[in-house]
Formats: sequence, C-alpha cells, structure tokens
Amino acid sequence: MDVRVLFFLCLGLVSCTDSVENGVLEDEKTHIEGGKFYEQRCSVCHGPDGKLGVSEAKDLSISTLSNNKIEEVIKDGKGAMPPFGHSIESDSTLIELIEYVKSLRE
Ligand code: HEC
Repeated sequence: MDVRVLFFLCLGLVSCTDSVENGVLEDEKTHIEGGKFYEQRCSVCHGPDGKLGVSEAKDLSISTLSNNKIEEVIKDGKGAMPPFGHSIESDSTLIELIEYVKSLRE
C-alpha cells in the first residue's frame, strides 16, 4: 500500500502514529534520513538549530506542537511555509523528521 495513503488514514488517530513511532525509534540510525531531510529542505528557513526565523519561520526550539500537528504542517504547509508532503518518500522518513524537529526543542 502507498505509505502516504496509510498516513492519511492515520491522521487524527493519535494512537496510530504513536505505535508506529515506538516500534521504529529504538534504532539510533532512524534519525539519519530525517536529519538529512531537515538539513536539505528545512534549515534554509528554520536554521540548523530551528531558530533562524527566515520569512517569519517559527522558532522550532520553542514550539509545543504535537506529533500530529507537526505532521500536518510538514505535509500541508502553513502561512509562508510550503507543503512538503509530496517530497517525503517514506513513512519512516516522515517519522524521523518529526522526531528530528522535536529534538531541536530546549
Ligand atoms: C520557506 C521557508 C520555510 C521552509 C523551507 C520550512 N519552513 Fe517550517 N515554517 C515556516 C514558516 C513561515 C512557519 C510559520 C507558519 C505560520 O504559523 O504561519 C513555519 C512553521 C513550522 C512549524 C510549526 C511550528 C509551530 O510551533 O507552529 C513546523 C513544525 C515547521 N515549520 C517545520 C518545518 C520542517 C520540518 C520543514 C522542512 C520539511 C520546514 N518547516 C521548512 C517556513 C519554512
């Protein structure tokens, strides 16, 4: 099944995203793809530490969004932030990216 379809089904189902996460995050390698994606696509506006604030980009180090909300912003975009749903190739990359975004919090 297309993972994007799967993730659409998961939207709004907190327990779904959580259980996928618990299964995958034990392995430290899981952060690699998400971190790479962040550096390539997100840090231009948010900066490597999340605080850069280009084009009014929110400071990710003080963000309090839940995993589901972060996923929504990444997939659909918000304000001046473009949507990235189409460029994320696998659900594991998306999960890693969400974790990476949260790891920038202080
Ligand atoms: C073109 C600049 C730009 C890029 C590239 C960008 N963002 Fe954003 N981002 C923004 C802006 C602007 C906002 C504030 C949107 C609003 O609230 O109006 C934002 C908001 C967010 C938020 C919400 C924070 C909060 O607390 O409300 C998250 C999470 C986020 N971005 C993650 C990412 C991730 C992950 C990527 C890479 C996939 C990314 N952004 C790429 C500009 C960008």
